[in-house]
Amino acid sequence: MSYAIIGFGAIGQALAWAFARKNIQVSVAARRPPEALAPLATAIGPTVTASSLQDALKAQIVILAIPFSAIAELASMTNWSGRRVIDPTNAIKFPDFTPADLGGKFSSSLVQETLSGAQVVKAFNTIPAAVLAQSPEEDGGRRVVFLSGDNPDARKDISALIDDLGFAPMDLGSLQDGAPQQCFHPLWAKNLILKG
Ligand SMILES: NC(=O)c1ccc[n+]([C@@H]2O[C@H](COP(=O)([O-])OP(=O)(O)OC[C@H]3O[C@@H](n4cnc5c(N)ncnc54)[C@H](OP(=O)(O)O)[C@@H]3O)[C@@H](O)[C@H]2O)c1
Repeated sequence: MSYAIIGFGAIGQALAWAFARKNIQVSVAARRPPEALAPLATAIGPTVTASSLQDALKAQIVILAIPFSAIAELASMTNWSGRRVIDPTNAIKFPDFTPADLGGKFSSSLVQETLSGAQVVKAFNTIPAAVLAQSPEEDGGRRVVFLSGDNPDARKDISALIDDLGFAPMDLGSLQDGAPQQCFHPLWAKNLILKG
């Protein structure tokens, strides 16, 4: 399986650390060219490779660690049909840090609509980057990552990746079923640890 992280800011870097800790190969890309990302990618670990956006979008599993508002810019950059996509975005308005008005829709459903044919799995959006960057093994347990998506096979593959990265996957079912738990709210289980 090949993996790419699009977006190399707070969440993209936190996820790159998670891949590096487990020696799993991952490409990282952003708007900036690979040469600009390479020093930090190299510092994170030898399995993290800076790439162009075009090349990163060819990975079998693509993680969109970018602002929700930027998702539409990627829609026409590749054929998303049948592609596995992890969506850690939150539709938040800055600087007031409040949920954007999406006309009653969930952001994950809009990502699914925008990336036509993609198999979108919402995951990693409820953990702050500073926590996500740390080891998921804590206090004798593993940090929980919620996931949801409409394609059961995609959920299975992403659950396996979450497990490989050392986290405890918690599959909430379809995007609709997962959204109430995963949508932006102040009671996020930021540091839920599963023991046993
Ligand atoms: N920060 C958190 O604690 C946190 C927690 C949970 C979820 N999230 C969500 O995760 C997502 C990323 O947040 P962040 O805090 O990591 O943001 P960030 O630090 O601002 O980083 C955003 C990254 O996205 C890249 N980017 C922006 N537009 C792009 C485009 N059109 N094509 C390719 N790359 C693009 C930027 O590229 P350049 O580097 O080239 O500018 C940058 O690397 C957001 O949706 C946020 O809501 C964040």
